[in-house]
Amino acid sequence: SKKLIIAIDGLSGVGKGTLAKTLADKLSLSYLDTGLLYRAVGRKMLDAGLSAESEAVVQIAERLTPADWARNDLRTPAVDKVASQVAAQPKIRAALLDMQRHFATQQGVVMDGRDIGTVIFPNADVKLFVIASAKVRAERRWLQYATDPNDPQKTAQIKQIETELTQRDEADSTRAVAPLRPAEDAHIIDTDHLNASEVLAKALEIIQR
Ligand code: C5P
Repeated sequence: SKKLIIAIDGLSGVGKGTLAKTLADKLSLSYLDTGLLYRAVGRKMLDAGLSAESEAVVQIAERLTPADWARNDLRTPAVDKVASQVAAQPKIRAALLDMQRHFATQQGVVMDGRDIGTVIFPNADVKLFVIASAKVRAERRWLQYATDPNDPQKTAQIKQIETELTQRDEADSTRAVAPLRPAEDAHIIDTDHLNASEVLAKALEIIQR
């Protein structure tokens, strides 16, 4: 049977990863979180004390291996920031392009990122573009890390997360190369009023059409 390619793009902190992973499990497809590639390059760049424009960072991207993006120190605020910086570099994106396309040669795949439906797999079988308001995304992210739901700093912390998410969306949407935007044939899923299982149900309904 033909191998299925499902492209999931969308805003930062919108739950693309959760959706993509669950879909891959349900449909027995492989899964790649492409944000991890940019995070891994950013992490190595920080460790080496380099700046995003440096030619040495292009080489880091060219030599990236799965072990690099399996590291467990890739989801920190510092890495969020540098990942977006390296992601704006055309040579770095070019270095990571074939890696992402090759991932789909063996079997079908669910891939999530910012440019999967527009650049990596313009001919994907299904394209989903996931959105939610910055406020809802920040509240959800806060709840993931909160130890005390009545923390007196709650409002300020949510505001801070919201600012960081919005800045990343802005940087990702306005860069010259592979900007974040829905492909023309993408199905938009607004998750403001949906929980994870409702988002999954909606995605499955679109895929099965
Ligand atoms: O998805 P995640 O938040 O882990 O991605 C981190 C950063 O990597 C994004 O803010 C974006 O700048 C970049 N990215 C990208 N293209 C992708 C996936 C991620 O530019 N396909």
